[in-house]
Amino acid sequence: MTTTLRFDVFTLFPEVFTPYLETSILQRAQESHLIEVKLYNIRDWTIDRHHVCDDMPYGGGGGMVMKPEPIFAAIEAVLGAPPSCPVVLLTPQGRVFTQAVAEELSQQTHMALLCGRYEGIDERVREHLVTDQISIGDYVLSGGELPAMVLIDAITRLIPGALGDPEGAWDDSHATGLLEYPHYTRPPEFRNWRVPEVLLSGDHARIAKWRRQQALLRTRQRRPDLLEKANLSDKDRDFLKDLEFQDE
Ligand code: ADE
Repeated sequence: MTTTLRFDVFTLFPEVFTPYLETSILQRAQESHLIEVKLYNIRDWTIDRHHVCDDMPYGGGGGMVMKPEPIFAAIEAVLGAPPSCPVVLLTPQGRVFTQAVAEELSQQTHMALLCGRYEGIDERVREHLVTDQISIGDYVLSGGELPAMVLIDAITRLIPGALGDPEGAWDDSHATGLLEYPHYTRPPEFRNWRVPEVLLSGDHARIAKWRRQQALLRTRQRRPDLLEKANLSDKDRDFLKDLEFQDE
């Protein structure tokens, strides 16, 4: 028996999740009970007539701030007080989401994702309810919905069985610490551009070597910062050394 990883998403816009969750890998992962995604509209926990979820910031300044009461009420109604699982706030102020963070979170069985909107969220939510804060990168989006979807997608891919391919996600870009090698499919020649001969050779050892070297080349060219942390073999290091000589 595999356990189901459950995501409880708290948002003002639950409807934006549905089409993506009902597509391809995420849909299949839900059908096979690898994941379960529950969507909660924070507005359902307002108690005023107009269902207000935001208010003006104390101290003035532009923009509106998400009120604490409906957020606490929603999360505590679903998950208890204190909540029975990690509560992750999606925010540009969080730790940066990487493949390593996705792997860490894929070990959980249950997590809440809280999507901020407006200019911010009352600080008491961060201090007394949230247990983790994650940013998907150094840019600002209009809300935490896309970031929450990014987390769900990246984490689900790591659950054994979520990808149709039995090889799974092991050689995805970043999974190995490197960018992935180039891919080709038929036809072998398209507009005079030929598929590299080695891939048509049927020689699996040569293909594996070529792919590894392409991954190293590509990472060195586009993301040299990743090479410093990547798990490299002696052969990999020799290959990179040779490239340095060629540069000189
Ligand atoms: N909300 C707005 N921008 C964000 C970002 N970059 N990451 C996570 N949540 C956000």
